[in-house]
Amino acid sequence: MIYVHLINNDYRYEVNELIRVFYFNEEIVFLDDLKDYSEGFLIVVGLKDVLSFTKVYKDNELLCEIQIEIKSINIGDHDIEKRRKVGIIQSLYDALDNLSTVKAPWGVLTGVRPAKIVHKLMDKGYDHKEILNILKGGYRLYDEKAKLLIDVAQKQRKHIYPIDENRFSLYVAIPFCPTRCLYCSFPAVGIGKYGHLVDEYTEKLIYELDMIGELTDSKHISTVYIGGGTPTAIPCKNLQKIIHAIYRNFGRENIQEFTVEAGRPDTIDEEILKMLKENGINRISINPQTMNDETLKLIGRHHKAKDIVDVYYLAKKIGFSIINMDLIVGLPSEGTKEIRTTLKEIEKLNPENLTVHTLAVKRASRFKNVIDQYDIKEQNVIYEMLKEIKAFTEKMNLEPYYLYRQKQILGNFENVGYAKKDKECIYNIKMMEEKETVLAAGMGAISKIYFPKEDRIERVPNVKSLNEYLTRVHEMVERKKVHLT
Ligand SMILES: C[S@@+](CC[C@H](N)C(=O)[O-])C[C@H]1O[C@@H](n2cnc3c(N)ncnc32)[C@H](O)[C@@H]1O
Ligand code: SF4
Repeated sequence: MIYVHLINNDYRYEVNELIRVFYFNEEIVFLDDLKDYSEGFLIVVGLKDVLSFTKVYKDNELLCEIQIEIKSINIGDHDIEKRRKVGIIQSLYDALDNLSTVKAPWGVLTGVRPAKIVHKLMDKGYDHKEILNILKGGYRLYDEKAKLLIDVAQKQRKHIYPIDENRFSLYVAIPFCPTRCLYCSFPAVGIGKYGHLVDEYTEKLIYELDMIGELTDSKHISTVYIGGGTPTAIPCKNLQKIIHAIYRNFGRENIQEFTVEAGRPDTIDEEILKMLKENGINRISINPQTMNDETLKLIGRHHKAKDIVDVYYLAKKIGFSIINMDLIVGLPSEGTKEIRTTLKEIEKLNPENLTVHTLAVKRASRFKNVIDQYDIKEQNVIYEMLKEIKAFTEKMNLEPYYLYRQKQILGNFENVGYAKKDKECIYNIKMMEEKETVLAAGMGAISKIYFPKEDRIERVPNVKSLNEYLTRVHEMVERKKVHLT
């Protein structure tokens, strides 16, 4: 248990999040009154005159004290309240970094989209050197993460600017999967049990697409992403109908990039690949996660590494010029040896895109309840594995172009999308940086409507249950209509 007492501030959320970075499994209890503390670990975080400070006690004995002058804080923003906030969090970071063996390479940043900070600084005209100083000094990022963020933001800008408030991207969710993977928390159902609802789902989804088509008459589309779930888990004719509905509503010639997340090789065959190719899909994903058969079995993916290789070559033969492959670092029983095996296999395939996730132990996954039965590597091993990946991507000319973090991610690391030159997925950038409206159809899909004048996103979620979606699709349209008319 960790007790926390705040003085002259109420940054409870931020303090809590940062303590969790260093002490992931500890319960954190905020005390309004220090009289309630008698023994144990206590962190006092506060402001006093021109200083922010953190004091850490163990059984009433002072272990560490940090003080920072607010005026010395450089975050590229003169707003005094923001600087006070960063000052408080900086002092907490410095104290915990002193005491804990856990590495926190992302410094005080605990949000999902760290590249946004860099975009803001670039918008204000700061140069790379100044931004690097702010990230490392103000936000306490490790040098490698600060440079990664700047590289990513730099690559993204041509796809974000100039902002056009009438442009939008489309996300379409197909929530069916062959089996449920151990770590997955996405809204998806098994095709075995719910396959009889695919026709009805297709019909309701097309209704929603038709209505979005009407709502966006005066706007123009940029990119489309069909994700899931596993879109290729449904029959070829259903997927084709959905693609045709998209073209009918938004115009085939207007779509700059069209991705289908094929995902699992056990759902991909020649028929579906040919259909996708004939229908103008220019980017697909074939996701190994790992190229080790034993791990594939362990995580509930019922196929072998060889199936991935076969499907990949088939897709290349059919003519797909951009194929993405997803990997997960930190899967149960996997260490540096296993990652090397995976990378050796990926090297032979040489995909245009590679997306590297670090395992996140999600509350809604099967994994969360059985994690104790598995061998999960320590933070330093994950760090080594990510270093191998970095070296590999450099060797393969794969450059980082989008990045996000999640709360339950192992070792506080990140997910990074890499691409060969000019092959980056534009939808991923738009979705991550939130400067363009994304309209989303289907179960569990979340629309994000962007208001440039206020630089604000309005999230409009669809329901996450299949039955609810089938019966309430009209309401899903109404929810979007409120913000679009
Ligand atoms: C929305 S999933 C859909 C992809 C597709 N259904 C598949 O599994 O191949 C997108 C990617 O997120 C990653 N992912 C899913 N759950 C994860 C978790 N708990 N931790 C880390 N990465 C995860 C996987 O790499 C997956 O390919
Ligand atoms: S990871 Fe992909 S295939 Fe596995 S259950 Fe989740 S959405 Fe389905």
